[in-house]
Amino acid sequence: MSGRPSASRRTVLRGAALTPVAALGLTACGPDDTGAGPARPTEPVDLGAESEVPEGGAKLYRDHNVVVSRDANGALKAYSTICTHGRCPINKLEGTRLICPCHGSEFDATTGQVTRSPASVPLEELTIRAQGGKLVAGPDA
Ligand code: FES
Repeated sequence: MSGRPSASRRTVLRGAALTPVAALGLTACGPDDTGAGPARPTEPVDLGAESEVPEGGAKLYRDHNVVVSRDANGALKAYSTICTHGRCPINKLEGTRLICPCHGSEFDATTGQVTRSPASVPLEELTIRAQGGKLVAGPDA
């Protein structure tokens, strides 16, 4: 018998060596390890000037985990930007497309609907109102 391990034995040893790394990666993506805040504001949040949300577009408020969109008629919609897949805060908005940095799920900022998996649940809709040229989102907004 040679002193050199067979290919299958090497494969097993390599797999065993990588298992703790893979497990670490999976736990880092769990819902409790994202550092994300609550899925929705717990009190009304002042988002600033209403004019910052373009007609037919959207604006991402990263500090508050909120996205606000405005349709062609001027109607506003707001959604939590905590991803419904693993609760990562979504930090990228391209046009009206929200992109989650954790596993690549995408959402439509105008409807909250999933446009790319692995997420399958739409974003949580928030109450939004404009008052005196300012936007306020959240409960009792
Ligand atoms: S947390 Fe998995 S895609 Fe967003």
